[in-house]
Formats: sequence, C-alpha cells, structure tokens
Amino acid sequence: MQWSEAGAMKILTVVGARPNFMKAAPIIAAINAHNKHNERLVAGFAGRPEPQVETIQHILVHTGQHYDELMSGSFFNDLNLPKPDIHLGVGSGSHATQTAEILKKFEEVLLEKKPDIVVVVGDVNSTLACALVSSKISFDSDGSRPVIAHVEAGLRSFDRSMPEEVNRILTDHVSDLLFVTEESGLQNLRNEGIPADKIHFVGNTMIDSLLHFKEKAEASTILEKLGFLGQGRKNGEANSSTRYALLTLHRASNVDNRDVFLNIMTGLEELATDCPVVFPVHPRTQRRIQEFGFEFSLGKGTGKHGANEQGPGMIVTDPLGYLDFLCLMKHASLVVTDSGGIQEETTILGIPCVTVRENTERPVTVECGTNTIAGTKTDAIKDAIRRQLGGNRDNGVPKNWDGRAGERIIDILVRTHREKTSFRSVFIPHTEALEARYARP
Ligand code: UD1
Repeated sequence: MQWSEAGAMKILTVVGARPNFMKAAPIIAAINAHNKHNERLVAGFAGRPEPQVETIQHILVHTGQHYDELMSGSFFNDLNLPKPDIHLGVGSGSHATQTAEILKKFEEVLLEKKPDIVVVVGDVNSTLACALVSSKISFDSDGSRPVIAHVEAGLRSFDRSMPEEVNRILTDHVSDLLFVTEESGLQNLRNEGIPADKIHFVGNTMIDSLLHFKEKAEASTILEKLGFLGQGRKNGEANSSTRYALLTLHRASNVDNRDVFLNIMTGLEELATDCPVVFPVHPRTQRRIQEFGFEFSLGKGTGKHGANEQGPGMIVTDPLGYLDFLCLMKHASLVVTDSGGIQEETTILGIPCVTVRENTERPVTVECGTNTIAGTKTDAIKDAIRRQLGGNRDNGVPKNWDGRAGERIIDILVRTHREKTSFRSVFIPHTEALEARYARP
C-alpha cells in the first residue's frame, strides 16, 4: 500500500451505475465537511503557528456503466454531486465486456493519479472491476498500491447465480477496509474468515442520502404530474389523496425470461384493479416489454375526485430522478420491487414493501423493517400484497441507519491514513471538535 506525502491524502471514489450515486454522495459531502472544518481550524490560529492538518484531495471517477440522463445525469443534479473528474465512458455490454473495459481504463487512471485510497460502493460491475485493478496495481518497485475501501460490504444473498453476489464476494475479499451496513454483514464477513480489524459497522450511506434529501423531495411535482394531488399541499408537504402503489423491476432473472416476467405482472393484476400502480421502467425492462409484446391496462384519470385524478391501472413512465422517486415512495401505500436499495429505503420510510425475489441480501429489512420476500410466483405475490396492505407493521430502524455513515467512513479513512504515515504531529481534533464537524444544520 502507498501513502502520498504527509498532510495530504488523496481519495479516489468510483461511481458507475444508478444505485452508486446516492451511496457515494454522503462520502463526498463528508470529505467537503472535513476540509472545511480544517480550513476553519487553521483560520482560527491566525498569527500563531498553525496546526498541521490533513486536507483530502478528492477525485471522482465515473465509469460510464450507466450513461443516460435518466439513469445517471439527473442524479448528479438531484444529489448535488460534483461533475466527475474523470469519465471512462465504458457504456453497456456483456458482463465480461463491460468489466474488461473498466479494468483496462481504470488501470490507466490509477497509474496517473496514484491515490492513497480507492473507495468503491455497492455491488455493480464497476465496483468489482475497480477494486480488482486496485488490488493488483503496482505504483513502484516496492509494489505499493492504494488502500481499497468497500462501502456496503458483507451483504450476501447466498445465490451465486446473481451477478451482484459474485461482485460482492470478490470485492470484499480484495478490499482492505470493509464498511458494513447491517449486522448480517458482520457475521457473513467473519464466517468467510475476513480479519475483524478490517471490518467497520458504520451504517448505510444510501440512508444518509435519504434522510438528507427527504424534505427536499417534497418540492417534487411528480404527484401533481401523475394526478395524485387531489387535496393539494398542506404546510409544504404533499397531501396525496390517491392511494397508489409503486413498482420497479429490472433484475435480469425477473425480466429477461418471458414466463417469469409474465408471472410477476399477473401477480400485480389484482393490485392494479384496486389502485393506480406507478411503474417507472428501467431501460432493460423497456426493451423486454417491447420484445415480449406486453401491454398493460393503463390508468385513465377516472378517480373519484375528478378527471385530474388517476384511477386504477398501470401508469408506465420512464425511469425517474432521485427526488421524484423518493417523493413517490414517501406517499405510496405499497412498493413492489426487485431492487436491493428500495428494500432499505422503504424500511426507513415505513412503507410496506413486497420484494419479488427468492431471497434478500438485506435481511434486516425483513427482521426489523417493512419488507417481505414474496418470490416470483403469481399467487405468492398476490398473497404478499394482500398481507402487506392489510397488516399494521411496527417497523424499527436498523442500527446505525442515522444519517452519519459517510462521516464515520471519512473519520476511519483519515485515522487509517494517520496511523500508516510517519506524520505524527498532525492536529487530532478532540471529541467535541469531531462532534461539531458532524453536526447537521
Ligand atoms: C446494473 C447493476 C445492478 C443494479 C442496476 C441498477 C451490475 C451487474 N448490475 O444493472 O446491480 O441494480 O444497474 O440499474 O452491475 N441502459 C441504458 N442506459 C443506461 C444504462 C443502461 O439504456 O444509462 C440499458 C442498456 O441497454 C444495458 C441495460 O440497460 O444493456 C443494462 O444495463 P447494465 O449496466 O448492464 O445493467 P443493469 O441491468 O442496469
């Protein structure tokens, strides 16, 4: 492993696909907060010898795994993410092609930038590819390389037919610091023999983003656009008068096989005759709907509050931005999904969730959240929807899902950097200073 000159610390963060953006945003915000805190600290020493502090130099790399405005661009605006410093532009392809393209292009970036730390998030192909390059790179004849930090480590579905499961396992085993979101992750990593001193239970950066942007999402006009705002707004909060459900499906195992996809959609028919079901459709799913010639019974604006309100049926839309989707989740009666992150977001929002998969790598969302695993069979989906709509679930908040995971991660990265360098005279903030740095406005 290598470290740049004392007092300066270079962190490179990788994003690539839609679910990466909201996981990386709080880490970048925590880096900015760290640097601002240090600036203020130094300014306070005017005229006296200044304390030596580490400034973090941050480099944001976008692999381009997702590249559309709807899958990528809009998320940078919504999440206040800086423009990537480097865009690899790899685009779509088979798993092998996409991974190989990232391997080749990211190696060049590492050799040029020589970061101290590479941060990868989640479980997409970009995560694995960049972790793998970082683990084998050699910056000099001593074989020095960056420290690899994996955010959202330890999750396991125990289903190796899922590409994400392979990505998770391999990324965890080449990483040096493993940042875990839930207790199952700690246990899984211990079971796989990963040394305890590499593992840190920091919480969930996706939930940091959700808590941070929850209020801002209320300004979204998506409820008006869909005709769900019969009663308008109350104290700035949307006051949706229409009961509706929200649906997302994009997993290859669910949408690439015509029969499986049809079973799932048939399982949703009853729900769609009861209330509108908003279905923002992922590009992969859009392609399959066309190929399979599926047609849905569409909502027609026939609700009891008049022509502007939606009646039952499927409302098919393009993929939605972060704030619009968050607003829709907050006000939904039910969410049906095959996404990993949405199981976590509905848990925090207290919205019943039906997961149309055979398993979950996020068991805390079932144990203490609002999630139920329905599988992909028609009748099981119908049953799960009825149960979730009928039941009154008392959901809890998973440990450490408190909006501060990004700060904990940066704190650990700074401390690790400090321990590894010979730079000992650095100013170490005492507890109150750390608390002040982390205080939310
Ligand atoms: C990827 C992740 C998955 C994550 C999902 C979120 C892997 C293995 N999978 O799956 O874990 O849940 O992102 O969306 O990394 N496409 C576009 N525009 C884009 C991006 C993709 O049209 O901006 C289309 C392309 O036709 C592409 C297909 O979507 O072939 C699939 O994209 P890809 O990145 O291969 O995987 P996802 O299914 O999105």
